[in-house]
Amino acid sequence: MRQVKQVKYEGVIKRYRDFLPYIKEKHIITILEGNTPLIKSRNIHRLIDPKIDIYFKFEGLNPTGSFKDRGMTVAVSKAISEGSKAVICASTGNTSASASAYAARAGIKSFVLIPEGKIATGKLSQALVHGSTVMQIKGNFDEALVIAKEIANEYGVTIVNSVNPYRLEGQKTASFEVMDELGRAPDYHIVPVGNAGNITAYWNGYKEYYKAGKIDRLPKMIGFQAAGAAPIVLNRVIKEPHTIATAIRIGNPASWQKAIAARDESGGLIEAVTDEELLKTYSMLAQKEGIFCEPASAITLAGLIKLSEKGYFKKGDVCVLTLTGHGLKDPQNAINVSKEPIAVPCDKLSVLKAMGLWD
Ligand code: F0G
Repeated sequence: MRQVKQVKYEGVIKRYRDFLPYIKEKHIITILEGNTPLIKSRNIHRLIDPKIDIYFKFEGLNPTGSFKDRGMTVAVSKAISEGSKAVICASTGNTSASASAYAARAGIKSFVLIPEGKIATGKLSQALVHGSTVMQIKGNFDEALVIAKEIANEYGVTIVNSVNPYRLEGQKTASFEVMDELGRAPDYHIVPVGNAGNITAYWNGYKEYYKAGKIDRLPKMIGFQAAGAAPIVLNRVIKEPHTIATAIRIGNPASWQKAIAARDESGGLIEAVTDEELLKTYSMLAQKEGIFCEPASAITLAGLIKLSEKGYFKKGDVCVLTLTGHGLKDPQNAINVSKEPIAVPCDKLSVLKAMGLWD
């Protein structure tokens, strides 16, 4: 019988060694992040725009349920190589979940600053269970980030927000995976924009593969912000950002200029959609494709629909949408936007009636 050789998967640093050469093997802290599926749309593309191909890069299937793990493996491995004993971050939830898990794995301390009452329960539970010191501040993400940066500068604690360049280095591996799988770059890559690190990281990844001669053309980078938290779109800092998509409730993104560069160099766009629009596509992804992602992730599909309605795409265009986090992070939101369970007496006839199989 023919033997099929299994290649052991060892996380993004080892998989993309040539593009992340500066981490020594002995310092690698990994929970086998990355290697997430690129899922082709089976139903939604027919409803929206049958002439284009839509793929979902489902980053919710990372170890802590979001794309942050790709950056965290590199940032924490680097911190370990420098002898750091603790990490700090400000977060709308996912960065804190990821930092806490990777710090636990590395055996170092983690400190996280989160906006009180504005992070999804699943994310809070993650930071707590991994043993982080979780500090809820009466302020927003932007204010928390200022404090985290100051403490990192003054007290030698490693900051693991995306202002740490190693975070973006790790996150660029998602675009490598997309290109490896498609055998080319997509025509459009659509991402949610919060602190604007991820759009920057994807663009860096595309450019690096292009320079290495692995692809012959680059995609256009398209970003979407929530209408109540759209500083880049409105070209001004938003002092009190608001949106149901708490992950991207950010009014003064750290990588603002880099995101604009990604948009302009690639010939793309950064636009806004309303909470109402993104909640519609959040349910649509769950009900038409079987994919349960975060509200912030669903903004990509809401944005694609808007562009498609304006006739933005042409026949055969390949669009990749990054679904940044898993829907289980925020179960309350899913319950709020869905039908309630039906209360049924405990007998077969009542169940059949509730199923519509008995009059
Ligand atoms: N989607 C999700 C699920 C996120 O958690 C974030 C950012 C983004 C999109 C936006 O990515 O900031 O690189 O533009 N979350 C950060 C956090 C801010 O603290 O977890 P970005």
